[in-house]
Amino acid sequence: MVGGLGPTLLIATVAVAQPAVDAVVFGQGQQLYQDRCALCHQDGGTGNPPTFPALSGNDQLGNPGRIVSIIRQGTPTMPPFPDLTAAEISAVATYIRNAWANGFGGLATADATAVLEGLEADGDLASVWDGVFTEVQAERGRAAYTGACGLCHGRRLNGAPDDPDMRSTPPLTRARFLRNWDGRSLATLFAYTRATMPEDNPGSLTDEEYVDVIAYMLSVGGMPAGEAELRPDLGRLARIVIEQQP
Ligand code: HEC
Ligand code: HEC
Repeated sequence: MVGGLGPTLLIATVAVAQPAVDAVVFGQGQQLYQDRCALCHQDGGTGNPPTFPALSGNDQLGNPGRIVSIIRQGTPTMPPFPDLTAAEISAVATYIRNAWANGFGGLATADATAVLEGLEADGDLASVWDGVFTEVQAERGRAAYTGACGLCHGRRLNGAPDDPDMRSTPPLTRARFLRNWDGRSLATLFAYTRATMPEDNPGSLTDEEYVDVIAYMLSVGGMPAGEAELRPDLGRLARIVIEQQP
């Protein structure tokens, strides 16, 4: 019966087109995913639509070049990851293409390298301890924080609300916050905060106010002020890494 051959042939064609998935690379990608991506896209790849798209069952992941450039360059709402190497990008891409309901096949480091070579050259990475905001900016941030965030996250930014009848929230500074955010960039903090906070009215501040509040959070955490203000530019924020210690 000729009709019966159709599906078989189709499966064979797809299988040939898919690069093999290396188990070690997949495991490395899973670790990177949990550290860098799961905050928004969730462990199970479900995301939190419409704020953060699902990656499980997402046909867009069939396009390897698009994945590599989104991870390296970000979008207006997704933070870029300029610190990830071609090998790391290929690992995390291999993971998201084959985890959960997905089966798009691996993505070789050589293919990631080829895409990255067509993108803009990189600048240096900095740390939150390098003086990345100004005192004036942190002071502006304090005013914005008090109006928009303090009610839930507390006057001392420790997650204890000013109103004792309200539930507690995560701390936004010091040891516990830094442990939780260690290794992520300020672009991830900015993009996540702008997309989800204030919890009762996300996106209600200007980009400048969000970045001022981040400057205030850093200053309360003991990070030194510097000469230049933090700018609400995902590409630049992506090069500033959150670290527990100087
Ligand atoms: C701060 C939240 C956040 C983090 C962290 C994040 N993403 Fe995203 N991601 C988004 C948003 C928002 C979009 C939608 C972007 C758009 O439409 O402009 C997106 C889109 C994507 C897309 C395209 C999906 C589609 O339907 O087009 C891929 C692929 C992706 N992210 C992979 C990753 C990977 C891999 C990581 C970790 C290295 C990551 N993301 C980290 C917020 C995030
Ligand atoms: C209405 C209460 C409320 C307000 C107002 C609010 N938040 Fe939140 N925030 C929360 C809750 C609740 C969580 C925990 C959400 C979760 O875990 O899903 C949270 C989580 C966060 C996180 C993630 C912390 C972590 O380590 O996971 C950040 C960052 C944050 N808020 C920043 C802000 C900023 C900045 C503002 C002001 C612009 C703000 N929030 C205003 C309730 C609030």
